[in-house]
Amino acid sequence: MSFEYAPAPESRTVVSIKAKYGHFIGGKFVAGNKHFPTINPATEEVLSQIALAGKAEVDAAVKAARKAYTTTWSKMSGRERGKYLFRIARIMQERSREFAVLETLDNGKPIRESRDTDIPLAAAHFFYHAGWADKLEYAGLGTVTKAHGVAGQIIPWNFPLLMLAWKVAPALAAGNTVVLKPAESTSLTALLFAEVCQQAELPAGVVNIVTGDGSTGALIVNHPGIDKIAFTGSTEVGKLIARAVAPTSKSVTLELGGKAANIVFEDAAIDEAVEGIVNGIFFNQGHVCCAGSRLLLQENIAEEVLEKLKVRMAKIRVGDPMDKNTDLGAINSKEQLNKITELTATGDSEGAQRWSAPCELPGKGFWFAPTIFIGVTQTHRIAREEIFGPVLSVLTFRTPQEAIDKANNTPFGLSAGIWSDKGSKILWASSQLRAGVIWANTFNKFDPTSPFGGYKESGWGREGGRHGLSAYLKGASHE
Ligand code: NAI
Ligand code: MG
Repeated sequence: MSFEYAPAPESRTVVSIKAKYGHFIGGKFVAGNKHFPTINPATEEVLSQIALAGKAEVDAAVKAARKAYTTTWSKMSGRERGKYLFRIARIMQERSREFAVLETLDNGKPIRESRDTDIPLAAAHFFYHAGWADKLEYAGLGTVTKAHGVAGQIIPWNFPLLMLAWKVAPALAAGNTVVLKPAESTSLTALLFAEVCQQAELPAGVVNIVTGDGSTGALIVNHPGIDKIAFTGSTEVGKLIARAVAPTSKSVTLELGGKAANIVFEDAAIDEAVEGIVNGIFFNQGHVCCAGSRLLLQENIAEEVLEKLKVRMAKIRVGDPMDKNTDLGAINSKEQLNKITELTATGDSEGAQRWSAPCELPGKGFWFAPTIFIGVTQTHRIAREEIFGPVLSVLTFRTPQEAIDKANNTPFGLSAGIWSDKGSKILWASSQLRAGVIWANTFNKFDPTSPFGGYKESGWGREGGRHGLSAYLKGASHE
């Protein structure tokens, strides 16, 4: 029997998008010089014009952040700082529908995800760090910790508001002021967040938001008035940043790419594992640094898992991100769609077998059907490089040791998944895997209290929890 779904569109009347935006500097919106369009990737509709910050704007933002740090924020007690963070968190909750709709329009992710994951987690991040602001000396990070000063923060387009929260909340809790740059294709929720800062009466200059592209990001990275750089994005740009800050006294954290192994052992609960595989790679169109993009199946259950996976994938609802029933939305940009198309073409030419879920893709916008590649080997590019799309590479293994060897055979080390009925096997495997975050019998679970970060080319440092907090404190002792 097949069920038809009636359309269940979320209304966009809750948001008002301006025709043009400026930067948020020193507590005020200031007009930009040059502008570039931001579009809805599901329709290619131009939503607004975003300002491109050059040297003058970045300078002004850094100056405003420095002034706020020396005159206000560094003099304020942790208890007072905490009050502002609580206030921001509450306003984000009050305006959560507005944030969710805006995020979905600008990014292309399903409203179900922005409403139920991105925005609640972003608010949770502010609540969590609000609690730390007056307890820093009890965080187990040493008693003589001090804020760095001005933090420069550069974030990607896959979780725009959530990545802002991961950056801004710990920075402010630890007593830093910030200059943040959202990604060029997804600036709108950061600009709405600037309004929230005004509404919360956050002292002017504590949070500054400049919009722009990589050139604006580079100006932040190289600015001598910045004490700490925090970046999330591609490994390629992460390496550029590491090089740029190496000769300086700037402190730096980098959250980069991943190619996570999701390992299913023969004793796993198969139906649950199939749900976990789907969540692991198709959540947020696969635009997830910790996505379970390499599926490792024990050989004797591979056929059964793949059969069930295909049945499940055929039920994924692809289409209008504003429809509450949609599971998989639009690819964030034309560039990203091109990258996915090119990398998957190498999957075909290198000899893996492609299978895509039968689904109708909208005529306008950027779309990619949920896809798996079977018969992938370790040397294939689709087994080694981050595709950052709804594409899963499937490999098999015979023994648990072979699973570990294959899982660790990657330049990355951000996350991993283990599916098994045996607690002892889970503990053994997680002790062998070189990955910062390991999920067992689940995948893509996030919580502000738990540290997130990777080994090798996945980055430097941790975000979230006490570990993440320590990155925003000078003299913090690490364990
Ligand atoms: P990107 O690394 O270029 O962009 C991330 C942020 O860095 C953006 O705000 C961008 O404006 C800024 N940026 C770019 N060049 C910069 C520079 N030289 N200095 C300072 N900031 C700079 O990532 P992009 O081009 O959007 O995506 C390319 C690939 O990177 C994706 O296909 C994906 O594989 C990976 N990626 C990984 C992410 C993750 O969370 N691990 C997030 C975004 C992309
Ligand atoms: Mg956009």
